[in-house]
Amino acid sequence: MNIEKYVREHYNIFATKYFDNIVNSERHEYWVSRPELALGTKKRVDCGKSLINNYFTKKNAKILDVGCGFGRYTFFLSECGLKVSAFDLSYNCIAICKALNKKKRNDINFEVMDFTNMRYKNNCFDYLNCMDIIEHTLRKKELLSECKRVLKPNGLMILSYPNIEDELRHKNEKIVKIKNYLKLILINIKPKRLIDIEHPFPYPTNKEIEKLLEGENFEIISITKTPTVFVVCRKVEK
Ligand SMILES: C[S@@+](CC[C@H](N)C(=O)[O-])C[C@H]1O[C@@H](n2cnc3c(N)ncnc32)[C@H](O)[C@@H]1O
Repeated sequence: MNIEKYVREHYNIFATKYFDNIVNSERHEYWVSRPELALGTKKRVDCGKSLINNYFTKKNAKILDVGCGFGRYTFFLSECGLKVSAFDLSYNCIAICKALNKKKRNDINFEVMDFTNMRYKNNCFDYLNCMDIIEHTLRKKELLSECKRVLKPNGLMILSYPNIEDELRHKNEKIVKIKNYLKLILINIKPKRLIDIEHPFPYPTNKEIEKLLEGENFEIISITKTPTVFVVCRKVEK
């Protein structure tokens, strides 16, 4: 099993376990599996929403929520008057999104897809929402190159990822790795080293992301640093 499959399996197991809790939650965008995550998650999602409000301002513009998870931002994007498409690698996360779509009487188009191989035409979205996905893959260049391909010239993208400079997160990382290692042992998988199933790869640095964005002809418009880094960028017209 390659490491990216652990990531998919992690999100599939997570989405099955919490399906009802998430679908029945009153404010599902703030839903957390553990109470100690509530404050940080609310701050992160509110920061993302405020950037969405500031930058994704064209009504009826076409937006893609890349790696939408269980739709934390997806339904908000629709409430903002945007025409939303969304996808995720995890079948079970998309099952939650579809259940929420029905419950909210919405008609967002949800699909299962890999973000390094999107089934969309070139230059077809005005905006891309890429929240907390790039840290889950080693194929960062391929992901950004696909984002560039599907985004219209001058289109805007918001990209977020954990802030590696955040001390607390670093300390927690080791504990998470040990817990996940033990979880895998319980299901008879013996990894060769300690891994955090959700984040098996080193967090990207700001320099690394800036260099990758520059390589794909994205111009950085703003960087907001909280425990999560939010980068707003524009696809430079060529
Ligand atoms: C931390 S969650 C973020 C979800 C959502 N964007 C949010 O902000 O709540 C990361 C998501 O990336 C998805 N993901 C990981 N690798 C992927 C891939 N290769 N293609 C599409 N989605 C992927 C996972 O299934 C998971 O739902």
